[in-house]
Amino acid sequence: MQIKLQNLKRSYGDLHAVDDISLTIPSNTVFGIIGRSGAGKSTLVRLISTLEKCDEGEIYFDDKRIDNLKKDALIAQRRRIGMIFQNFNLFASRTAGENIAYPMEIQKMDKQYIAKRVKELLALVDLEGRGDAPISTLSGGQKQRIAIARALSIEPDILFCDEATSALDPQTTRSILNLIRDIQKKMSLTVVMITHQMEVVRDACEDVAVLDDGKVVEVGKVVDLFSNPQTAVTKDFLSNLADESRTDDIVRWSEGGLYTLRFKGIHTDEPVLSKITKEFDVEFNIRGGGVQNVDDLHIGTLLCDISGDKKVVSQAVKKLREYGIVVEEDK
Ligand SMILES: Nc1ncnc2c1ncn2[C@@H]1O[C@H](COP(=O)(O)OP(=O)(O)O)[C@@H](O)[C@H]1O
Ligand SMILES: [Mg+2]
Repeated sequence: MQIKLQNLKRSYGDLHAVDDISLTIPSNTVFGIIGRSGAGKSTLVRLISTLEKCDEGEIYFDDKRIDNLKKDALIAQRRRIGMIFQNFNLFASRTAGENIAYPMEIQKMDKQYIAKRVKELLALVDLEGRGDAPISTLSGGQKQRIAIARALSIEPDILFCDEATSALDPQTTRSILNLIRDIQKKMSLTVVMITHQMEVVRDACEDVAVLDDGKVVEVGKVVDLFSNPQTAVTKDFLSNLADESRTDDIVRWSEGGLYTLRFKGIHTDEPVLSKITKEFDVEFNIRGGGVQNVDDLHIGTLLCDISGDKKVVSQAVKKLREYGIVVEEDK
């Protein structure tokens, strides 16, 4: 199911929470929407999932316009959408299996069918045999697995994950992201991941839109965003990755570093820097760096100073760019 948004707007008083957003989310993929707190992510999700009406604009699922549906059609449409949240939103009074069964009970599906589906869904999320477990006995990761199974019980066309891993530790986050990726492929779902964490985008998404102040400021392949970010917001998200104490993130080991070099794929193996120092009278002083694995491509980031005659430095930078390296100067 492809989602197309045209000039969507939603304001609360004077505040433009969603401010003229046009975006196409391709079908059968994991699409990321990243933005800082207050950027308008959750509002956008409420609009797309028809929980809230937009002030202006149009929403299409494939070729069908869904923002102007009448009540009954709207309710039927809503059933085609699955959602999971940061705080799981499970019923504490129901067992794991009863939580998964809930949306099917609402739709008055056959009891035997429901029992069979619950079993299948528990297996799908790697919690076989845990149907009778009270919710309070489950870990955060297990709760999110149950929430995923519940969202999938009605066989949705689209799955929205609003900060679904924000309450989980890094290891559990990875296992949940892997599960979502697997399920997306198995069921040919369109998954929309809403997050403020760049590592979620890196580890789970193919395409991504960056949201800021209610607007889409950047959109494209995750690989391109990592290797050649266009906006200050995106660069900010990337540099925040450096704060996490993970081995494959960008580590800064000393202050300074006027230049950020971004290497994509093949260039990682070439001795580009030593070639440059042979050709030009400049020196690199490396202040930090790291290699990220995005979509099976290695993206290297190097934080460094380049010293030498001003003119020669700018020639060296030009040469670096000719090698396909993105060079950003911190002014
Ligand atoms: N129901 C509401 N009433 C008033 N303001 C709201 C409402 N929902 C969201 N907002 C405001 O809209 C902006 C975007 O919020 P939200 O979509 O929740 O952002 P995000 O999910 O990216 O953190 C924020 O400034 C928020 O305070
Ligand atoms: Mg939110």
